[in-house]
Amino acid sequence: MRKKIVAGNWKMNLTQTEGQKLTSEIVNMIKDESTQDVTVVLNPPFVHLQAVKKLIEGVNNIYLGAQNCSDKASGAYTGEISASMLASFGVSYVIIGHSERREYFGETNSMLTDKVKLALENGLTPIFCCGEPLDIRENGTHAAYVTNQLSESLFGLEEQDIKRLVIAYEPIWAIGTGKTASSDQAQEMHATIREHLASKYGKEIAENMSILYGGSCKPDNAKDIFSKPDVDGGLIGGASLKSRDFTDIVTSF
Ligand code: 13P
Repeated sequence: MRKKIVAGNWKMNLTQTEGQKLTSEIVNMIKDESTQDVTVVLNPPFVHLQAVKKLIEGVNNIYLGAQNCSDKASGAYTGEISASMLASFGVSYVIIGHSERREYFGETNSMLTDKVKLALENGLTPIFCCGEPLDIRENGTHAAYVTNQLSESLFGLEEQDIKRLVIAYEPIWAIGTGKTASSDQAQEMHATIREHLASKYGKEIAENMSILYGGSCKPDNAKDIFSKPDVDGGLIGGASLKSRDFTDIVTSF
């Protein structure tokens, strides 16, 4: 059985007080709803990890996640945060290769390989992001574009490592735009991603990996998107900043 996962990516939003308020509300709502079979991950900015960690203590289906980690193990890299620091702090998940990091911070497929390896070596679960920009979608080469992202960053991994990853398909044209992929578009790409993973690592491994959808996922479209056979949850941006919306997405399976 694949894990159902809903992860909130706060991006660079919220003060510490706002983050604490949001987390407390989510914790209370999640406790009240029957969400035990859903893994919930909160990915606040680094400086809020401590506060969020305290508030989610004792809630057994909410996990701490980070939004990034360095591609270097340690050393003179001012301003960077390593995978081992995150692991030693109690972080369980780390988003790697978000399109915003690829676009604004020049992260390349090969750099992402290093990040994934360091995350895995330190016992973190990478949430590896892939997804195509609008022009690629419009010229119809999105499947090749996304499968190439996966091959270049991940296909050097051993079987025992790839199966520890979570994949997030986030079409860039749907991120923060209010323009979500239709559930059929999401299903088509998720199936393509799973087939691609199966072509390298075999059907059993691919069948057991969770593939999340991200891009303007909201309470009013989550049910439809999550109902698709190859969609195992969501990576949520804007709607993860509102406790009611986020919790409604968590209960959308
Ligand atoms: P939105 O949900 O705001 O479109 O963001 C999606 C995303 O980038 C999550 O990582």
